[in-house]
Amino acid sequence: MIAIGCDHGGVELKDEIVKHLEKKGIECKDVGCYTSESCDYPVYAKKVTDLITSKECKEGILVCGTGIGMSIAANKVKGIRAAVCGDCFSAQATKEHNNANVLCLGARVVGTGLALKIVDTFLETEFSNGERHVRRIDMLEQ
Ligand code: RB5
Repeated sequence: MIAIGCDHGGVELKDEIVKHLEKKGIECKDVGCYTSESCDYPVYAKKVTDLITSKECKEGILVCGTGIGMSIAANKVKGIRAAVCGDCFSAQATKEHNNANVLCLGARVVGTGLALKIVDTFLETEFSNGERHVRRIDMLEQ
């Protein structure tokens, strides 16, 4: 189960991602928002990170206009490693090296086609478990 949320800047892309993942048989817990009415991204970042820290979901996706506000909000939460990605290389690397558990996307930055590829890359890539990466991630938690 993937936790997914957005603000008004990301609602259309979030809906596309949910459709895309459900077509692939991947269930989403969609915490909103659900309309293009202006709202506050930290509210939705918190809903998604709560689902991850409570272990109801292993990973999450957050979409706003740039992906930046969502990543700043999500990274304030202990145990959350959120990465804004605008390309597949970064999506793969942040999972392999940082064991990122939240992917942030900027709906005003990437087109839908690229965003869906980034989502697939992120979800299909596993953490490398490399000793140096484990050590560095442990340092982030101290
Ligand atoms: C909303 O206009 C915009 O500021 C928001 O979606 C996001 O880009 C913030 O980082």
